Amino acid sequence: MLIAIDGPAGAGKSTVARAVADALGYTYLDSGAMYRCVALAELRGAEDPLRCAIELDSGHVTLDGEDVTDDIRTPQVSARASEVAARPEVRRHLVKLQRDMIGHGDYVAEGRDIGTVVAPDAELKVFLTASPEARAQRRAAQTGADPAQVLAEQLERDERDSTREHSPLAPAGDALRLDTTGLSVDEVVGRIAQLVQAVR
Ligand code: CDP
Repeated sequence: MLIAIDGPAGAGKSTVARAVADALGYTYLDSGAMYRCVALAELRGAEDPLRCAIELDSGHVTLDGEDVTDDIRTPQVSARASEVAARPEVRRHLVKLQRDMIGHGDYVAEGRDIGTVVAPDAELKVFLTASPEARAQRRAAQTGADPAQVLAEQLERDERDSTREHSPLAPAGDALRLDTTGLSVDEVVGRIAQLVQAVR
């Protein structure tokens, strides 16, 4: 069983996907963390960032054995992640790793292209959205950053993610759209849980 949750920055994908995975006993896959790892490797001057070993394990992210769970969340890495994510060779490499992972067991996978490219056969596809202001507010509340600056950075990243040639951010034709503006995490998780019951 695979549940795909895609959407723009700050729509609540990570929090919701993790909660849904916990509720169902499924494994959570944060595909964005993998793009962030490639970006961090590049920012640190790695000769070939695609040869670095990326591991995702119960909430921790390691890059060549080093715990980079916090290091990959800086605004600098966010911006670089959306740049490296536009390159076809990076996408090819990471999509292959992601398909290998979700090939075994039950997963809740979140990102930008899970329902369109990584797993077009996913049993359930949800596209999470929220107003740009709500998305920036949430991320600013998480990090303590200035909401106006977060909004500007997110809009720039969304624009790049949505207009790139390869696997642009877009809902799959058969994805269910869920606008989370004004909804609590529990409400969103509850709605997705209902959708899961319907397809199980
Ligand atoms: O958490 P947030 O939504 O801010 O970002 P993320 O999911 O960690 O993804 C960081 C960046 O990686 C995005 O801006 C995309 O450019 C890229 N990404 C992607 O292209 N495809 C995915 N499946 C996941 C992330």
